[in-house]
Amino acid sequence: MSAIAAPTRAPFVPPAPPAPEGPLGPLALLWGLWANPIGTWTRQNFDYPVLETDGVLGRLVVVNDPAAIRRVFLDNVANYRKDALQLRLLRPGLGNGLLTAEGEDWRAQRRALAPRFTPRATAGFLPAMLATADWLMERWAPLRDGRRLDVATEMSLATLDVLERTIFPAGLGRDPGEFARAATEYFDSIGRFHPLDLINAPSWIPRPGRRTGAGAIKFITTAVDEMIATRRRWLEENPGAADAGGPGDLMTLLLRARDPQTGLGLGEDEIRANIFTFIGAGHETTANALTWALFLLGSDPAWRAEVEAEIDGAPRTLDAAAIEALVKTRATIDEALRLYPPAPTLSREAIAADELAGRRVRAGTTVIVSPWVLHRHRGLWEAPERFDPRRFLPGRRESIDRFAYLPFGAGPRVCIGMGFALQEAVAILAAILRTYRLDPAPGHVVTPVQRITLRPKGGMPMILRRR
Ligand code: HEM
Repeated sequence: MSAIAAPTRAPFVPPAPPAPEGPLGPLALLWGLWANPIGTWTRQNFDYPVLETDGVLGRLVVVNDPAAIRRVFLDNVANYRKDALQLRLLRPGLGNGLLTAEGEDWRAQRRALAPRFTPRATAGFLPAMLATADWLMERWAPLRDGRRLDVATEMSLATLDVLERTIFPAGLGRDPGEFARAATEYFDSIGRFHPLDLINAPSWIPRPGRRTGAGAIKFITTAVDEMIATRRRWLEENPGAADAGGPGDLMTLLLRARDPQTGLGLGEDEIRANIFTFIGAGHETTANALTWALFLLGSDPAWRAEVEAEIDGAPRTLDAAAIEALVKTRATIDEALRLYPPAPTLSREAIAADELAGRRVRAGTTVIVSPWVLHRHRGLWEAPERFDPRRFLPGRRESIDRFAYLPFGAGPRVCIGMGFALQEAVAILAAILRTYRLDPAPGHVVTPVQRITLRPKGGMPMILRRR
């Protein structure tokens, strides 16, 4: 008698725009970059270690070879600066803050801010992150089972709440919902590659269809100016309070920062730019990571059951060691960051000629390292299109090349908030899964779309149920 095999579930392949078979013509490329840049990567990009093009975007080299990536971000980093297009997109809001500054300006800011993000300082933020998780659970408590919820908005509110409890404990001075909406509006408008920007048209030529994000920038700038003024007044009225255990938060640090080498403080513009930067870079990215992780878990109930069992076995109040022991929860976040990297494109400009993966790179060339492509590259990953969080479990994750997996970048300009974001994401995901099960809303088609960050188009409706 032959045994009847149990039906095996086909592996889950999360949604992604299909890669065009061949290079796009100039108009199709400009349109694609405007509509959704991740949809413009051709199949070749996912197969080749390095590709060179010379077209409407100028001379570009797309690098997917880990050794060459290491050269750009680490070994020959002095030869690669942030490129003009990236700065043109980011500077209207982020000014000359840590993400966009270059050279000595950047070094001085990084030296001043690094103490806030050491592993020890990050571990000190865990209770605040757990308090946010409790706040979120209280927020959801009155909701009935079967309720449809936009998880993308909920995660933005949660990650903003974390920022308020950790690096801006005096508050953002505005309703968090309004802040989250302004940040989305900012990325939606300035985060689009307008065809006229891409062909380097002079800035006085109107950009049809382009929203400037001016309203959002004004909203955030006014709030930030008020935050600075309030804290300045407080520091003047309470001299020495910050040293005596008063608010040693990021805001105080920025206002009091002195470069140990020059003794100079940060300028008014740099302070404002950094507050804007930390709000912009510090919440929408982590919110996207959590949103995609919840979607992936909801799409693979068997894996979700394993993660739930892990969380059920953990202590109710998580400390740093308990967070570290949640290896399946963490692997889910790592896999979400692989499939849907919140920062899907990194770029640099070669200052002098160089050689990458055997190719000569001329001075002035833009070098693109796209985590979206790299993380789905067929030469670097097994079944890259599949959701397989087990690849990040201890024993297997060690075989992943450091320069094949770049959700947080690499080298001296690696994300300063990497440890912060990972701890926050695991803490919040664990709190949600302990109590709730979220399933993708029937009938909704999930589409990843790039607007500087990578987010689900139209939000992420999911159905909420208590476990
Ligand atoms: C999952 C969440 C996050 C992701 C995927 C992410 C990704 C990145 C990436 C890829 C870079 C490097 C950009 C480049 O090399 O061009 C970066 C830089 C940066 N990130 Fe994050 N980030 C996250 C969370 C955070 C958080 C929580 C903060 C702050 C609280 C933060 C603040 C910054 C800043 C200030 C920089 C610029 C660092 C420098 O140039 O020195 N990020 N991030």
